Amino acid sequence: MDQDTTGRIGALIARMTLQEKLGQLTMLADGLVETGPPGPHNPFNMVADGRVGSLLNVWGADLIREAQRRAVEESRLGVPLFFGLDVVHGHRSIHPVPLGEACAFDRALWEETARASAQEAAHDGVHMTFAPMIDVARDIRWGRIVECAGEDPYVNAQYARARVRGYQAPDETGRMRLAACAKHFCAYGAVLAGREYAEVDVSQRALEEVYLPPFRAAVDAGVAAIMPAFVDVAGVAMTAHRRLLREVLRAQWRFNGLIVTDYNSIAELVNHGVAADMAEAAALALNAGVDIDMMSDAYANGLPVALERGLVSMEDIDGAVRRVLALKQSLGLFDDPYRGMGPAGTPKQPPSAEGRRLSREAARRSIVLTQNRESMLPLGAVRTLAVVGPLADACEDQLGAWASAGAGEDSTTIIAGLRATWPSAEVRHALGAVYEGEDADLLAQAVEAARGADAVVLCVGESRAMNGEANTRTRPYVPQGQLALARAMLDSGAPVILVLCSGRPLILPDWLVEGARAVLIAWHAGTETGSALGDILSGACNPSARLAVTWPRVLGQVPIFFGIRPTGRPHDPANGWSTGFGDAPFAPRWSFGEGQGYARFARSNLRVDNARLGPESLVRVSVDVTNLGDRQACETVFVFSHDPVARVTRPLLELRDFTKVSLEPGETRTATFVLRAWDFAYPDETLKLRLDTGLIQLHVGASARACDLDRVDVEIVEGTP
Ligand code: NOJ
Repeated sequence: MDQDTTGRIGALIARMTLQEKLGQLTMLADGLVETGPPGPHNPFNMVADGRVGSLLNVWGADLIREAQRRAVEESRLGVPLFFGLDVVHGHRSIHPVPLGEACAFDRALWEETARASAQEAAHDGVHMTFAPMIDVARDIRWGRIVECAGEDPYVNAQYARARVRGYQAPDETGRMRLAACAKHFCAYGAVLAGREYAEVDVSQRALEEVYLPPFRAAVDAGVAAIMPAFVDVAGVAMTAHRRLLREVLRAQWRFNGLIVTDYNSIAELVNHGVAADMAEAAALALNAGVDIDMMSDAYANGLPVALERGLVSMEDIDGAVRRVLALKQSLGLFDDPYRGMGPAGTPKQPPSAEGRRLSREAARRSIVLTQNRESMLPLGAVRTLAVVGPLADACEDQLGAWASAGAGEDSTTIIAGLRATWPSAEVRHALGAVYEGEDADLLAQAVEAARGADAVVLCVGESRAMNGEANTRTRPYVPQGQLALARAMLDSGAPVILVLCSGRPLILPDWLVEGARAVLIAWHAGTETGSALGDILSGACNPSARLAVTWPRVLGQVPIFFGIRPTGRPHDPANGWSTGFGDAPFAPRWSFGEGQGYARFARSNLRVDNARLGPESLVRVSVDVTNLGDRQACETVFVFSHDPVARVTRPLLELRDFTKVSLEPGETRTATFVLRAWDFAYPDETLKLRLDTGLIQLHVGASARACDLDRVDVEIVEGTP
């Protein structure tokens, strides 16, 4: 962030009253979208008095220009506001939900879509996005799993870096276009039983190995802000977590950006039972290093009392104000409070052609094909297609949770996309079922539509309101009414292409997966869901996405993820005294990394250029990949490691890198990864990072399944003493 070279910030703070300082630390929500309990205020009317320093949940040149005008022209000191919004996967043009886009395993795409969202949002007056969300999540009951990049810390760290770069990429003036706010620091994904806002109790090891690395990556990439999570971690509320916020984030990682609370979080410290009143809550947060109070009025009302009681110092208040003003300065708001914004009176902008192109491309690369029996796909000549299910014509729902300013009217729905793909075919449509509940008439219409069709495209799953914040589900299944539709479609005799649209992995009955000829996991793929699906079904696009999250077979397997540790009695179906379940298989329905295209690949010649490594060594790992199919195709290659003998148990697989290899028919290319020996260091029994001498296994291949991996070993010949 900019240093205060002009002394402007210091001079401003010196002129501020306490109320004006607290105003800078107060962020209030306007009502264009509701992302938490509405407050009692009309924030626009508080701007001129300097009682608010930033707003959220408002966008568009008209509103933002007016609020900013009040700040710079009517408030005593003329300090500009900044405006925040959850620009999570697009702004006007909506890209796939993050869990979907994670499946593209493509850092350049993650960066490009973030940059494009930033452009659209900045044009609408937004300065900060509350993204990326990088909470590693392994429990499909938790609705917010949709917002992250899946189950793996390395993937979330790579995603964090790409998103921060994309959002914060410079505009024409050389300043970051949008400030990113990485959230939710930390371990929110580990809430008990997936229960929203619930307690988190994970070990320090889990924090260091799983939950903190994505945030470290965001900080290293220069993220402008961090949002502490709503939750407590082992009893310490994150909004008041001095050790993690001050010692780890600020001191160890040298983060000097803004810490912005989550919505109403400071006031909720009273509900957590760690503060008796608003003054204590405010003091806890400020003393932990929190700068901005989003929506709880705790700083405005509580800090004056806390000052009187001697619980906080003016120095700490000034420090927080300085960081807020430094962000405004970095964004260039003192020089041009209306920077980057369209003129007032601009009518609402639909997605541009470029916005649509990118949404379609991102969706094509995020939709995962997990099953394709008898090469059902791509579809050849199509005469009659029945497209049924509540997601077939769901212009709003396909946008997914946190769709920002995305409008359903701009969507290309699945039915529209398939009609455009096959203009001369008869593409019939029937709703078939509502999301939840039974409807015999709708079902009968779908049966009629399927009669004599070449294929049925069965679009089932979740509405967007069924996942996201505050949408924990105890039954993350395809609901009964939709299953009845599925059963009827399988009984129709037409081959069924199952298209699952959701924000989380869903538990599916075996009969559905076994009965469907092809299965596509489309997530909520955004504005251009329908065109992208048409491209994939017709073969114009060869699907290349791979699962960034394990799909359980039954709910009792949850939490389920590939990075488990070895047990003393490893799973062995032939041994009743081994790890597993008495009533369910051990393996998931689909593993991390699974996904197919319309080609097969062969891997060969796995090798390393250096098998004996010291602590500073690099090792180059290479493998040849051949496209055995007859069309251009893209394979994803993962490199995992395993340390078979260490002082503490090490996960069976730890992801170290991934890449995509694009291949013409018959072509062979080499995928190469450069790993550092130091990457194999781990926190020992005292949590000190150590590198042991001895063997490290490298597992390279197409997914986390053993059958998809080849192995090569390296030896650490010199470690830490
Ligand atoms: C609450 C959510 O937890 C957070 O992710 C979001 O950024 C804020 N509301 C603001 O909308």
